Amino acid sequence: MTHFRSLILLLTVSLFSLNGLSQSCDSGLGYCDAGSDLPSKILIKGGTVVNAEHQEVADVYVEDGLIVAVRPNIKVADGVRVIDATGKFVMPGGIDPHTHLAMEFMGTETIDNFFTGQAAALAGGTTMHIDFVIPVDGSLSKGYEAYVEKAKLACMDYGFHMAITKWDDIVPKEMEIMVKEKGINSFKFFMAYKGSLMVSDDLLLEGLKKCKSLGALAMVHAENGDAVFEGQKRMIELGITGPEGHALSRPPVLEGEATARAIRLAAFVNAPLYVVHVMSTDAMEEIARAQKSGQRVIGEPVVSGLILDDSVLWDPDFITAAKFVMSPPIRALGHGKTLQAALSTGVLKLVGTDHCTFNSTQKSFGIDDFRKIPNGVNGLEERMHLVWDAMVESGQMSATDYVRVTSTECAKLFNIYPRKGAILAGSDADIIIFNPNATFHISAKSHHSRSDTNVYEGRSGKGKVEVTIAGGRIVWENEELKVVPGSGKYISMPPFNYLYHGIDKADARYLTSLKAPVNRIRPSL
Ligand code: URP
Ligand code: ZN
Ligand code: ZN
Repeated sequence: MTHFRSLILLLTVSLFSLNGLSQSCDSGLGYCDAGSDLPSKILIKGGTVVNAEHQEVADVYVEDGLIVAVRPNIKVADGVRVIDATGKFVMPGGIDPHTHLAMEFMGTETIDNFFTGQAAALAGGTTMHIDFVIPVDGSLSKGYEAYVEKAKLACMDYGFHMAITKWDDIVPKEMEIMVKEKGINSFKFFMAYKGSLMVSDDLLLEGLKKCKSLGALAMVHAENGDAVFEGQKRMIELGITGPEGHALSRPPVLEGEATARAIRLAAFVNAPLYVVHVMSTDAMEEIARAQKSGQRVIGEPVVSGLILDDSVLWDPDFITAAKFVMSPPIRALGHGKTLQAALSTGVLKLVGTDHCTFNSTQKSFGIDDFRKIPNGVNGLEERMHLVWDAMVESGQMSATDYVRVTSTECAKLFNIYPRKGAILAGSDADIIIFNPNATFHISAKSHHSRSDTNVYEGRSGKGKVEVTIAGGRIVWENEELKVVPGSGKYISMPPFNYLYHGIDKADARYLTSLKAPVNRIRPSL
């Protein structure tokens, strides 16, 4: 992996000096940079085209980055690259709603940047992601500029959410600029990470109101940060300093409490809410209850929460345990199954990864104190395979629902559908060809992330992304990546998604229900 990493870095530097159009290839490592000779006209023949609502056997014709036609028996002239997809699924490329590339966090920076993280994503069939901009000293504009710089390495399409970490007169004005001028339509509030990213309830309320006025989507990391702080102290006092202390210090009840609180505050101001990385049955049940009462609440499970259980945190080998440290923590056996069931019934709507990778050296910062282990796990490259295996192969979900939870719902929520999230004429040509009879294997030895570990190490399963087409270019084929740093596009996302439809009517109903102010007869004194 070290050799692989240096190759990527080297390639990155040389590509920039050559304006991204040079030709070089190291097929032994399964990585090439793409030149300008990639076919711009592609015909995908005979596959089963799967959209969120419908699937049918059809051909897909792509030209200059767009899907031009989807129908049976498309005839093309010479010079078109034809791919036979008989017996395979042709689906929209995955969209990961939750990543952290090149994020400065807990005294270090994630090991995957916008190039290596995205290269990994493409190898796993994800063609777009939405990353969280972290403000610099509370400044949204400085944070935005910093992420524009980081994203210059991008080799696939991406968008931004933005975190809100403080509140003053400037922040709401900057939120408005982000929405109206910068194409950001969602803001995240951390209810945990006391002393760094955590916000208070009054800030959350202000934020919810501002999001609503802008038509932006408020997102929460829902854990009670004060109680987590207390739980951490308790563990240290008990002499529990290892990775298991991480899970023990922030139990599901603290996630359930914060989820309920955020939901009730959002109800109070009648604002839509998106709960990121739902890791526990406790949090999921709060979301289900709110949805039943008609509240507009979206729950996002992440792959680690669906697939893993916390037994790994008790592993005697520090690195083996520490690589699983993320927040909210990976839960005890049983939570993952209830989250899978909630995903299959639509209580949870779309799957992210919270890809936030740190290598063994970085994880070792917490060798004597679990509070210093940088929080985060991988998943960008693995998400499409693991969700298929856990949900479709297991019989819990159809292929159409798979497309919905891995791609379409994200595009709809962040208001970029049907440009993204669909195989339709006019949509961006972000496409995967998926062989349901092939097998995937996961290992840090072969993955494309820069991390030296993988939380899904040794897993294999049925279904494999054989070809990834991003922006009309074949970027993954025959186990080989052809990617160009700097070729990824920023996708601007407009406000007022479907959750806002009719919300004004609910506000009007609320005002009527007040039956106030009462026009009182004043006492004549
Ligand atoms: O452990 C995690 N989740 N790291 C990334 C930051 C966050 O809370 O999303
Ligand atoms: Zn979070
Ligand atoms: Zn996150």
